[in-house]
Amino acid sequence: MSAPILELRALSKSFGPVHAVKTVSLAAHAGEVIGLIGDNGAGKSTLTRMIAGAIRPDQGDIIVNGQKEHFETAQDARRAGIETVFQTLALVPGLDIVENIFLGRELLVPGATGRATRTMDVAAMRRRVEEGYQRFGLNLPDMRTKVAALSGGQRQVVAIARAVLWGSGVVVLDEPTAALGVKQTELVLSFIERLRSHKVAVIFISHNMQHVMRVADRVCVLRLGRKVHDGPMSKLSGTDLVALMTGATIAAQ
Ligand SMILES: Nc1ncnc2c1ncn2[C@@H]1O[C@H](COP(=O)(O)OP(=O)(O)OP(=O)(O)O)[C@@H](O)[C@H]1O
Ligand SMILES: [Mg+2]
Repeated sequence: MSAPILELRALSKSFGPVHAVKTVSLAAHAGEVIGLIGDNGAGKSTLTRMIAGAIRPDQGDIIVNGQKEHFETAQDARRAGIETVFQTLALVPGLDIVENIFLGRELLVPGATGRATRTMDVAAMRRRVEEGYQRFGLNLPDMRTKVAALSGGQRQVVAIARAVLWGSGVVVLDEPTAALGVKQTELVLSFIERLRSHKVAVIFISHNMQHVMRVADRVCVLRLGRKVHDGPMSKLSGTDLVALMTGATIAAQ
């Protein structure tokens, strides 16, 4: 198998007395969807936030394309090609869809000397989003709609669209389908499949075993901060997954 795009080596993170993540290692390859599962409080979001540069590990290394990274901010992780959709969507309600997608990465109008001005190139940003809408078949209202006017599910789709449109190497999705209706869930699952075909590595966190079984190639299970299983999805049933999360013994073991 090719070298991993993203490798986590023995990452640990505590919050005071709580060991949220304990020496977790994980490798994600291009074109691979990893289902990351575990019960509430197992450490999935904490792991996600370390990968995304939102919090720093106490111990362990994050390696992207063979290079050790020390993310200080979410921008650093993005620059390394890692896009994350957090469980709590980081959208700004007062801005429209295009502005949210370009948040922190606004395109600027080129000046006469070829250097960027401080004026946002709204037309260029809209064109880019429009292309993305076409490419991924995004089913969203007019892109000038303020996020405040969207439903919870639509907001989720905007947050995912942002990751999908920018994500070059790794896309991490923390519970992306939790608040979605049937059609939007289908859209998100098909996004994930499309990312795989674009050779992106996807880490997909979900409590819905049906969704995990449909899109994941591999499944990693966290229990009380530790990785307790890492193997091919094909060998496991929904019952096995639940047993791995809760610690019950399963037939496959
Ligand atoms: N900022 C924080 N301060 C203190 N404790 C935290 C913080 N973030 C997470 N924790 C604790 O770390 C542990 C792991 O939490 P985390 O959010 O990573 O779990 P999770 O697997 O994402 O759970 P869920 O499925 O409910 O989203 C929990 O015990 C939680 O209370
Ligand atoms: Mg979580």
